[in-house]
Amino acid sequence: MPLCTLVLVFAIAIPQSARSAQPSIVIKFSHVVDPDTPKGKAADLFKRLVEKRSAQRVVVEVFANSSLYKDNEELEALQLGAVQMLAPSLAKFGPLGIKEFEVFNLPFLFADRAALRRAEEGELGRSVFAALEQRGLKGLAFWDNGFKVMSANKPLREPEDFRGLKMRIQGSKVIDAQFRALGAKPLVMSLSEVYAALKSGLVDGTENPPSNLYTQKMYEVQSHVTVSNHGYLGYAVIVNKRFWDGLPADIRTMLETALAEATEYEYAIAQKENDDALDEIRKSRKTRIHVLTEDQKRRWRSALSVVYREVAPQLGRVPAQLLHPAE
Ligand code: LMR
Repeated sequence: MPLCTLVLVFAIAIPQSARSAQPSIVIKFSHVVDPDTPKGKAADLFKRLVEKRSAQRVVVEVFANSSLYKDNEELEALQLGAVQMLAPSLAKFGPLGIKEFEVFNLPFLFADRAALRRAEEGELGRSVFAALEQRGLKGLAFWDNGFKVMSANKPLREPEDFRGLKMRIQGSKVIDAQFRALGAKPLVMSLSEVYAALKSGLVDGTENPPSNLYTQKMYEVQSHVTVSNHGYLGYAVIVNKRFWDGLPADIRTMLETALAEATEYEYAIAQKENDDALDEIRKSRKTRIHVLTEDQKRRWRSALSVVYREVAPQLGRVPAQLLHPAE
């Protein structure tokens, strides 16, 4: 058989699926939380949708639990193109110098999730996404993880209870100011290091939504949790802009649709995931759960009002009506 016929027969004999087995596009999506959290589940759904709809032409490799990069490494990795997609917490954009992101971290600013979504979809959301583009990044969506609780090895009911405590924080100036206002000592630390730091006593306490407190097992080494809902924790899903702009238009559209669906799913499950996590923590009996009374909450707000006076004015061009804590 002549060689050209042989090549032809061989090519026909190989099924299409085998010939296109190599994905043409790989999206590395790195994050720092457990797969069993709102962000983890939404990232996995995004992966499934994309791989199915592109018939594996686009593969999304999700790296959960800081298995690829930690908090302080991932933004740089994205700018360098070592990963293509991230969903950092809105408290971790400090290194990019986009001050407006810090508004999301102000204590007691947003009355509820609806107020938050309005801010994300309004002028504030648009301005932080525009600022990302000047840094080689592109914001595609916001994701939700609800409101934070506080934890320590003692009850935290009154502002004075924080005095002298070393508290692990994310790298946010506003959160730093929040704990200083309470008389605590904030310490910036990557999420992957928090469990060990709490266990060894390097820090005394921390804050996070229950889903992280539970899945990172922090509650096992914290005897008290206060449901304070004092601050919000959300995410920005971001990509490397050069990578994104270089994608074929049909692939980009498919990715946008898949992300919009994953986003709706993420918002739909976030509250329940956190309620369930708090229930599990309660059931474990390792940790006592306190819920702030209205009076206690009023005293927390008053103790934290200094953050508005001192830090909020430095947060760039923020719509004035946003800088008044919700009553
Ligand atoms: C943290 O405390 O670092 C987390 O809130 C991170 C995350 O992505 O939820």
